[in-house]
Amino acid sequence: MKTLIVYFTFSGNNELFAKDIAKDLGATIVQITEPKKRGMFRIILDMLFNRFPRINDLSISWQQYDHIFLMAPIWNYQIAHPMKSFIRKNKEYIKDYSFITLCSGRETQKEKIAKQLKKMAIYEPREIIEFEILKLPTYEEQKSSIYKVTPDGLKIFTQQEVYQKILRAYAIKEEMV
Ligand SMILES: Cc1cc2nc3c(=O)[nH]c(=O)nc-3n(C[C@H](O)[C@H](O)[C@H](O)COP(=O)(O)O)c2cc1C
Repeated sequence: MKTLIVYFTFSGNNELFAKDIAKDLGATIVQITEPKKRGMFRIILDMLFNRFPRINDLSISWQQYDHIFLMAPIWNYQIAHPMKSFIRKNKEYIKDYSFITLCSGRETQKEKIAKQLKKMAIYEPREIIEFEILKLPTYEEQKSSIYKVTPDGLKIFTQQEVYQKILRAYAIKEEMV
């Protein structure tokens, strides 16, 4: 099973987690970047006008991969807009895929993510998985600013059954000799 992880991050959380997952799976990892530096103001405009911002081109040999993980934050119930641009741009190649987000966590959010993917992508995701930082014991302390996960904080997620299931399903298996 050869897996590709494509991620977008604004404040670093999804990047930290994507790198962990890539290491555990033996997956290739690529980052969605933008030609323009992003600040909170652009996030707000993207959210308000549901924009598809310009992203830098990525050269991906799609045929190499059996499964793709798309990883991005959620902004006001919406998949972060640069990831939306990526999905729309590459929809014919994004066939066997799952969507993972390291987000705050909000009720009914999963259905909203599913709806957005249905609208933008051609194929349905195998899974949509939310890892919710709201549930971390240290969340309350940092509540007023943008919450930054730490490598230690991530351990709570990597110990969860849902994470272990990902590893069992998508990790590179050792060839039998
Ligand atoms: C403007 C803004 C809106 C957000 N809205 C949501 C939301 O609707 N649901 C949610 O679960 N998290 C929400 N979050 C939290 C982010 O998804 C979370 O902090 C995420 O881990 C950030 O990922 P990053 O560090 O990779 O950019 C929001 C964050 C920002 C900055």
